[in-house]
Amino acid sequence: MKGIVLAGGAGTRLHPVTRAVSKQLLPVYDKPMIYYPISVLMLAGIRDILLITTPHDQDQFTRLLGDGSQWGLNLTYAVQASPDGLAQAFLIGADHLSGDPAALVLGDNIFFGAGLAGQLADAVADVRRDAGCSLFGYPVSDPERYGVAVVDADGRLVDIEEKPEQPRSSLAVTGLYFYDGQVVDRARTLTPSARGELEITDLNRLYLDAGEARLVDLGRGTAWLDTGTQDSLMEAGQFVQVLQHRQGVAIACLEEIALHNEWISPEQSLALADEMGSSSYGVYLRRAINAFVEQG
Ligand code: G1P
Repeated sequence: MKGIVLAGGAGTRLHPVTRAVSKQLLPVYDKPMIYYPISVLMLAGIRDILLITTPHDQDQFTRLLGDGSQWGLNLTYAVQASPDGLAQAFLIGADHLSGDPAALVLGDNIFFGAGLAGQLADAVADVRRDAGCSLFGYPVSDPERYGVAVVDADGRLVDIEEKPEQPRSSLAVTGLYFYDGQVVDRARTLTPSARGELEITDLNRLYLDAGEARLVDLGRGTAWLDTGTQDSLMEAGQFVQVLQHRQGVAIACLEEIALHNEWISPEQSLALADEMGSSSYGVYLRRAINAFVEQG
């Protein structure tokens, strides 16, 4: 399975903060926002990742992330010239995917939970075994801001609506999607919505109409955090800070995940920690590497 991280958009809801800097490069506590969605793909075991940015932000992402080989990844880049919708990621990424199944994660979505790695592994396995797509639902207090999933009494997905005025459930569809190898062909059949975008909800509805869409309820045990407004961005940073301080374990430390996945060696990760200097991230990473080595 291959991955796509979509980090486009003008970030207008965060202006003036995002006038000169991509939203997905803003800090969420101690690391850039883009680390969090990349960590999700890495936790799902995905190493071949396309990062889609705006044309003017690409250089900064390249400076931050390079070719991904430092984390055992193969990271490549493409641009979305204008914000024409999330489903356009599959048209832009068609060559990258070359018919393979795909995971798409939005560059501003943050996930955290003890059971997350298991839920990701299940989604990858389900798409491999049954094809179709696996979506994730998360109960929120403001579903009208998102794609909203409607499920029947057995928890089966029966409808998805994009930003409905009268949501029929509180289950938001998160910005993490797993699709089979048909995804590019299906995305090619989409037409722009009333707001002029190729909607991810329309793509998901194609799978739903074919009886091939599953919804996994992430449940309250997993956190799905929004970074779309100044307040939610601040709260996401505070959430990460509180958890990391209390548990002494980092969220989305890419070197640590790569080390645990055995994609890089302890020596390689120590060299990366040295590049972080005396930052709290670097101090944490050195500690995590030592603990990993001691555990054998
Ligand atoms: C997009 C999708 C929406 C999804 C959300 C998740 O909304 O259109 O279905 O629930 O991402 O973050 P947007 O953030 O573009 O408003």
